[in-house]
Amino acid sequence: MSHEQWTAVDRFIDDNLVASDAALDRALKTSAAAGLPPIAVTPSQGKLLNLLARAICARTILELGTLGGYSTIWLARALAPGGRLVTLEANPAYAQVAATNITAAGLSDIVDVRTGNAHETLPELAAEKPDPFDLVFIDADKQSSPDYFTWALALSRPGSLIITDNVIRDGAVIDADSDDPSALGSRRLHALLGAEQRVSATTIQTVGAKGYDGFTLALVLS
Ligand code: SAH
Ligand code: DHB
Ligand code: MG
Repeated sequence: MSHEQWTAVDRFIDDNLVASDAALDRALKTSAAAGLPPIAVTPSQGKLLNLLARAICARTILELGTLGGYSTIWLARALAPGGRLVTLEANPAYAQVAATNITAAGLSDIVDVRTGNAHETLPELAAEKPDPFDLVFIDADKQSSPDYFTWALALSRPGSLIITDNVIRDGAVIDADSDDPSALGSRRLHALLGAEQRVSATTIQTVGAKGYDGFTLALVLS
């Protein structure tokens, strides 16, 4: 099995099931043109996020790590009428690219792009006492995923979904001696989830155009 094959299969899935459109294409194209790293979720992953948000009839979504707004567009399109999405991005240049893409997608009224380090913008957001978020997508700096999970739990309600991207990283997650902060972050996330009675969680390994990785899905119970 090769990366080439995983990519070809992703193309098959996309050709059959995952329709693209001008706004999604534009988000990827402008992101590449502006020099953003090509690390957005794949189309099939974006659609999975969209389907999960629709399945729970999400009205409020929080995203950590906007990049150029590709996953943001998939998620925002899932919102029920009157819904809203807040997305946090540390890099002002990336946030600007995302804002332009979100506007071009016709979603600027429902998406709030907040620029700044999530370690600062999360407490600011919490201080506003927002309605609980129905879905949280954690996809920023991976070393902080456990801290972001704790924030996500505080900002959610029973029934909320908390999804964390990039938790496998070529299997590095099982290396207890790793010196990769991302892998250690994922290990810490799994320890936290294993001990947290208020959620029920699982992790799914994935292969595809972005290689071998995975995501964690946690359902908030109480
Ligand atoms: N969700 C995007 C990809 C996000 S890539 C998509 O799938 O389309 C990770 C993003 O997190 C990058 O844009 C990076 O700038 C941002 N990031 C990294 N550290 C951060 C922090 N401390 N606070 C907020 N954003 C951060
Ligand atoms: C990478 C991939 C991601 O999905 C992400 O959110 C951040 C980084 C990467 O492959 O480096
Ligand atoms: Mg990611």
